[in-house]
Amino acid sequence: MLPLLDLHNIGKSFGETVALAGVDLSIGAGEVIGVLGENGAGKSTLMNIASGLLEPDSGTIRINGEPQHFTSPQDAAEAGIGMVHQHYLLVPNLTVTENIMLGDPRLNPLRPRLAEHGAEIGALAKRVGLDVDPFERVERLDMGGKQRVEIVKALHRGARLLILDEPTTVLSERERQQLYDVIRSLTDDGVAIILISHKLDDIYEVCDRVLVLRAGHVVDHGPLADRSRVELVRSMVGEEIETGPAKTAVRGEPVLAVSGLSVRRDNGARAFSDVTFDLRAGEILALAGIEGNGQEELAESLTGLRHADGGDITVEGRTLDRSVTALSRRRQGMRHMPHDRHRRGILASRSLADNFLLSHWHEGRFRRWSWIRRGRAQAEVATIVREFDLRGSRRSSIGSLSGGNQQKLVAGREMWGSARILVAAHPTRGLDVRTVAALQDRLVRHRNEGLAILLISSDLSEIWQIADRVMVLTHGRLRGPVPLSETSTHEIGAWISGG
Ligand SMILES: Nc1ncnc2c1ncn2[C@@H]1O[C@H](COP(=O)(O)OP(=O)(O)OP(=O)(O)O)[C@@H](O)[C@H]1O
Ligand SMILES: [Mg+2]
Repeated sequence: MLPLLDLHNIGKSFGETVALAGVDLSIGAGEVIGVLGENGAGKSTLMNIASGLLEPDSGTIRINGEPQHFTSPQDAAEAGIGMVHQHYLLVPNLTVTENIMLGDPRLNPLRPRLAEHGAEIGALAKRVGLDVDPFERVERLDMGGKQRVEIVKALHRGARLLILDEPTTVLSERERQQLYDVIRSLTDDGVAIILISHKLDDIYEVCDRVLVLRAGHVVDHGPLADRSRVELVRSMVGEEIETGPAKTAVRGEPVLAVSGLSVRRDNGARAFSDVTFDLRAGEILALAGIEGNGQEELAESLTGLRHADGGDITVEGRTLDRSVTALSRRRQGMRHMPHDRHRRGILASRSLADNFLLSHWHEGRFRRWSWIRRGRAQAEVATIVREFDLRGSRRSSIGSLSGGNQQKLVAGREMWGSARILVAAHPTRGLDVRTVAALQDRLVRHRNEGLAILLISSDLSEIWQIADRVMVLTHGRLRGPVPLSETSTHEIGAWISGG
């Protein structure tokens, strides 16, 4: 039988960067292939080619044996290929149905019949087990909800091959299980799936075969059943990696004390109230919980991006006044790796040095009178590139780096210099195994040198690996903090689910 999609000898370069060098991949109906590889290995580029967003420099694309020449995602959609990107492409103030019908040739602009289309979309979602309200506004959905809309959108256009680029990085454990169920029900219908993920759990859960990319080459390809985790990691990174045990911390004085803090969401509803805890020098305090329970609002109120409407924040013994800005908190040594780094952490069209300066321009080192000293920033960027093994062209814009490599710059930037407090939201999200280990190791080392770290994470295994204490935000209230030695993943799991 002819494969549904057959990519042969695909090559793609960006300037001097060879993203793909002669890659082959074919997939049949009902099959699930996992695509693995380190940050910058070429995974997204390959899938952008398969879905018509990029044109390859060389090679052929066939669908059911027919050669294709995609010049846009519309061409690929007509051929039955749909892709859910690493960063969603939805219009926030439109409804789910409006978003899905946007650009759909079946939409008659003179008679949009949105109610009918909505009903049809609702029925389709239900059939494959996706929880989607067709008439909800997209801005009201969390990340998992937006992802479900993207999947329904692709299916509604008639996708027979669905490409999911790191779909589970933004999902809670429960949503992840639901996504696996959806994948299984789609493959029963004969839909083929390509799943990109850094999490081997995802791969083992749903995939039949794997394809491992390293620096644009296929280094391994075959049935999953024949391959162990260790073998997969080795083919991804080309060597064994060590994950060192967390060293014991020396807890010092509280550098940040929060008392009775109350904060509202954008829509005016209360995110949480009466939150009290302290964060000490030389500790990693984890904030666990399902995303959307006020973690982002807490991070923003600590870092000066959101006003609190009650309570006090004290930094090194000084109570901050309400009008204190993000800049003045930075000057006091507070750093922030935001939740949505794509939206808040970077300026995609600017250079790496400019993106570094976003956090450091006010420091004397990078200024002379009113001039900004870009050369010095470039030198620091070179250090980050080396230390974080950041791959990609250093001269181009940050937006042209792969998702994981953009993250490395944000991490390096926020950990650079004389930080006292680091608020780190999901710092290892989207990073490959090797970089996760390196970044966790670095967090631990900075902690041992006295940095106070608030680690916001929905990954209990990560928390157990590197944190000292843990607390949970749930239903607008804080539980904990408690030392990890006095609790268990079981108990924290129960707190998270409101037990
Ligand atoms: N538009 C672009 N301009 C310049 N270089 C690019 C562009 N898109 C990708 N690249 C480069 O191509 C290489 C492969 O990037 P790609 O996004 O495919 O990686 P990836 O495997 O998806 O990584 P990640 O796990 O970090 O998402 C990287 O070196 C990246 O910097
Ligand atoms: Mg990618």
